[in-house]
Formats: sequence, C-alpha cells, structure tokens
Amino acid sequence: MRVCDYINVVAAKFSAQHLSYGHGTDNPYDEASFLVYAKLNLDFNTEESATRSVSASEINQIETLVRMRIINRTPVAYLVGRAWFAGREYFCDSRALIPRSPIAELIQNEFAGVLDFAPQQILDLCCGGGCIGIAAAIQYPRAQVDLVDISEDALALSKKNITLHNLGSRVQTSHSNLFMKVSKKFDLILANPPYVSSEECDALPMEYGHEPRLGLVSDDEGLELPMSILKDAERFLTENGVLILEVGHSHLVLSERLKDIPLLWLEFGMGGEGVLAIRRAELVQYKARFV
Ligand SMILES: C[S@@+](CC[C@H](N)C(=O)[O-])C[C@H]1O[C@@H](n2cnc3c(N)ncnc32)[C@H](O)[C@@H]1O
Repeated sequence: MRVCDYINVVAAKFSAQHLSYGHGTDNPYDEASFLVYAKLNLDFNTEESATRSVSASEINQIETLVRMRIINRTPVAYLVGRAWFAGREYFCDSRALIPRSPIAELIQNEFAGVLDFAPQQILDLCCGGGCIGIAAAIQYPRAQVDLVDISEDALALSKKNITLHNLGSRVQTSHSNLFMKVSKKFDLILANPPYVSSEECDALPMEYGHEPRLGLVSDDEGLELPMSILKDAERFLTENGVLILEVGHSHLVLSERLKDIPLLWLEFGMGGEGVLAIRRAELVQYKARFV
C-alpha cells in the first residue's frame, strides 16, 4: 500500500471515533498524516513521500499507535515524540504541553504592529518544552533568550530542544516560580501560562489528561497566574519593552474584569485567540488593577 492510501485508512479509523483534535491538527486526515509521516520519518515537503510503499511490519507498528490514539486518546505528538511549531520540529513528551500557541504566528511575523525594533533580550515565561523562546531565538539571531518554568521536567525537555536547534550559546533555562528568580530586564516577554480553571480542566476531553496539569490549571477562574504576570512584568521590562500574554478562552473573563482598560487583543490569520500585547508604560499605569 502507498503512504497516501494508508493515511486514508488511518483517517477513516479516526473519523469513526469521537476523537478530540487541537494538539497540532484539527481534523482526522491531518492527524493521520502527522502520525504516518512522523513514524516513517518522511519529509512533508517531498512528493515521493506520499507514493512510497508502506511495508506490513511498518503498518503493524503504526497500528499499535493508532490503537493508543483511539483507546487511550493519547495525542499523536506524544505517540511520536515530536511536534511542529512555527515551521520547525521539536522533541515533545508528557513532561510539557504539546506546543500549539498562536504566538508562533506572531513570532514568524516579527510582532508586526506591536514591536517596532528587534528585541535583544527575550524571556519565555512558562516555557514548557521551550518552543516559543526557541522559535523567537531563531527569528531574532542576535537575541539572548531566557526560558523559565517551575517544572524541572519541562526544563529538561526544553534543554533537549535547545540542543536540537544548536542554540546553546544564546538560549538558557532557569527554574523559577514566575519572576521569583528572574533578575534581568527584557525587551520582550512572551508568556503562555496555565489559564484553565480546574473545573474546566476536569471537563476537557481525555486527550488533555495526558498533558501535565501543572501546565493547564490556574486558580481564580484561570486568571491567577496571568494576573500575577500582568502585575509584575513591568519590573522585568526595559523602557520600551512589551509583554505578550496568552490567556486563550479566558480572555472573556479577563476582559470583563478589566473592562475599563483598553487591552490590545491580537488577531491571527492561522487561528487562535486570547493573546494580548501590552507595553511597560501601560503595565505601570494600570498596575493597581492587576490584582
Ligand atoms: C500552557 S504551558 C505552556 C508551555 C509552552 N510555553 C507552550 O506554549 O507550549 C504552561 C507552562 O507553565 C509552567 N508553569 C506553571 N506554573 C508556573 C509558575 N508558577 N511559574 C513558572 N512556570 C509555571 C508549566 O510547568 C508549563 O510548562
């Protein structure tokens, strides 16, 4: 059987189940393609990949993963140990969330309309496997990037990704509860913190249960960590520095609580919502409101 035909077989199996998507793909066909291409180490950009034949033993191995996807609802990125972010591949496992932040698009567009200079010092706060900070380091080859997380497991994965992308001289990791151990100032802080309330988290599809709860849940209707970042970020930004903060669907609650503050919610061509940009001056001006 050719790869393209086998992908259709796998996609039909996924379609017949009520799987949840959103960990890198949003439909059964793309999910099947991701699984088959990754497991067979095929290049997405080469036409021959689709017409190559799949052996019986390869099918056997992939079918084991198909069953794990369907029965255990394990996301494909964890099954193959890899994920894509901003056009590049990363190691991915259950030590950190599967990368899916729309901040990827902002990085690739160099924060058009938000940032009018190339940042020299960048912080990826709540870095998980490090994809946001590493993608920023690749986009801005002169920048120094710090990756911060409270999870030693996530930091170990991010170190693997720094090595994968040969960025050891420009990207470093530190273990910190938000800004607690941070002592520098940054031109750009990128933060995708946990922002799901624990009730919402309990109601999420089984796929999300494979991800570390520490990466998803935040108290106070999901806003405890985002609010804390809004309150403290000004102390760690340079004069013209900007904070980019993702709060996903919790943007509704946050907008309601801060309705008298003109928050700039960014728009995305490739999907996603709930990311705001705020300058240091505004963080200082509204500091008392971020409680
Ligand atoms: C939503 S995940 C984001 C991971 C990664 N930035 C991404 O976009 O895929 C949030 C991350 O925040 C980390 N985290 C949770 N509480 C934290 C805290 N108090 N201080 C620093 N990091 C924290 C978690 O360990 C997790 O890796």
